[in-house]
Amino acid sequence: MLSSTLNKALNDQIVMEAYASSYYLSLASWCDQKGFPGTAAFFYAQAEEEREHMMKIFMFVNENEGQAISPGVNEPPADFENVGQCFEIALGHEKKVTASINNIMKLAREENDFRTMNLMQWFVDEQLEEETQMQLIIDKLKLIGDNGVGLYMLDGEMAERAATKEEEEE
Ligand code: FEO
Repeated sequence: MLSSTLNKALNDQIVMEAYASSYYLSLASWCDQKGFPGTAAFFYAQAEEEREHMMKIFMFVNENEGQAISPGVNEPPADFENVGQCFEIALGHEKKVTASINNIMKLAREENDFRTMNLMQWFVDEQLEEETQMQLIIDKLKLIGDNGVGLYMLDGEMAERAATKEEEEE
């Protein structure tokens, strides 16, 4: 059975994942409006993925005799300066999520809660993947600067990444 401390920490994480999903949806919408359909598809796929993360924790809490709380979510910003800023925000948020996951792992370890540690290990690996991916795209965007052809080509690459994500989920 989950301790009340871990139950609360996991419910806080549920809120964080829900907010991440909502934020990615906002980034997707902005990219859609500004003529970056590939990047929009990528962020739409990210939004789906974050909802899956949320549900993974949600179901875990209830399966372990805790109480999962359906989260209220704050409205994220809707306007951004450019595609680069979208990815900087995404990476910044992923880093906050990683810190929070690490903290839950620490709490679970203190309590010898091996099930929660096991779940958190999955998230530790996932966060590494997500941060690495965002950093790679930011590095590319720095090389491209505001070169239109470069941005157009990167948008095509983002469409491919989105399609790969969808295939992986099927
Ligand atoms: Fe589920 Fe990208 O944090």
